[in-house]
Amino acid sequence: MIQKPKGTKDLLPEESYKWQEVENIVKKIFDSYNFKEIRVPVFEHTELFQRGVGETTDVVQKEMYTFDDKGGRSITLRPEGTAGVVRAYLENGMGSMPSPVKLWYNMAMYRYENVQKGRLREFHQIGAELIGSSSYLADVDTILMGNQIFEDLKLENIKLRLNSIGCPKCREEYQKILRNFLSKNLDKYCDTCKSRFEKNPMRILDCKESKCKKLNENAPKMIDYLCDECKEHFENVKSMLKNAGLDYEIDSTIVRGLDYYTKTVFEFVDETTELTVLGGGRYDGLVEEFGGPKTPAIGFAVGVERLMDMYKNKTEETKPDLYILSVGNKENQKAIELSKNLRKKGYVIEKDICERSFNAQMKYSNKINAKYLLVIGENELEMEKAKIKNMQTGNETEVKLNLEEISKVIKD
Ligand code: HAM
Repeated sequence: MIQKPKGTKDLLPEESYKWQEVENIVKKIFDSYNFKEIRVPVFEHTELFQRGVGETTDVVQKEMYTFDDKGGRSITLRPEGTAGVVRAYLENGMGSMPSPVKLWYNMAMYRYENVQKGRLREFHQIGAELIGSSSYLADVDTILMGNQIFEDLKLENIKLRLNSIGCPKCREEYQKILRNFLSKNLDKYCDTCKSRFEKNPMRILDCKESKCKKLNENAPKMIDYLCDECKEHFENVKSMLKNAGLDYEIDSTIVRGLDYYTKTVFEFVDETTELTVLGGGRYDGLVEEFGGPKTPAIGFAVGVERLMDMYKNKTEETKPDLYILSVGNKENQKAIELSKNLRKKGYVIEKDICERSFNAQMKYSNKINAKYLLVIGENELEMEKAKIKNMQTGNETEVKLNLEEISKVIKD
């Protein structure tokens, strides 16, 4: 038997029902902040991610699903959503829309990762991008919107971790100081860290190897070297979040794994598993990097699989409102007519599609937990009347075989 590729998941009906419930709750939050949905292609030109996400990142260096298409173009399955959304923003002239432009998405992502708990090769992100505001108020609204997801899903043991990684100006200064610190023990770091020393020394700070973590203990922190503008911005974000009653922890090891970030970065972490469920931050240079005008932006993405692992609510699957039992040609015709019209009215209707016997249909309607049962036999057809049975109470009600009368009984 052919099996699914490693790092992918089948979502069976029981679970997809829960996903829909969560997706609907999150969509309502986005609606309330007036974010609009965007859908972008599953694949893009590889260059988009090389330039957007960054050549030195793990995502670009090790994790992309990249191939040449039949026309010889290098194509990559999207490993994240921000680069594609910003490309679409520019390509579709969304810069001329009322600013800021607020977009959300719910899309599958692809990363060739070491598969483990909470780490898949095909996974889903629900994300939001706010393009066109440099104000700390945009950071605050974005973070509050992210927090609302956990609140409305009633998820606990979630911690907000916050950091600022400055702007290119103050970061350059800081990187010199950091390199100076790292160079003293560079030979003791792991090979990945060594390879990041020149181009991306800040990533060394979020290495998960214990020996590197230990060496990093006294490393200089970016937040201590922010320029005045970045410092003021971060102070404002912190005080507004505090005023809004949102607890956070400053975590100077958050540098994020994607190169486009500037200033505020944040993660909502599941304290039980220590997995980051939501990650995001400001990316004030990305629109310009893709050839657009200088346009500040901020956003986040939630890992849906990780979110679902936390969402333990019992969701009841939809039960059919009515099973229409019929045997025979004329009876089936009536069942088809009634079910078509009742379905149009929004009822969930089941009927025979296997040419089963009367008894087999009775058994089946029980198995699928139909709320009501309507039997159409020769007599019923002739009289244009039938009995609807409430399958839970056993009560029977006689109705005319028309939409109004049937709806009246099953509508509760
Ligand atoms: P990210 O931190 O790479 O950020 O991913 C966001 C979230 O996606 C993570 O916190 C995690 O929950 C989930 N995730 C990432 N990789 C995997 C995986 N292999 N398996 C399961 N879940 C995973 C971004 O992608 C940015 N584009 C977020 C953003 C939007 N920043 C600004 N705007």
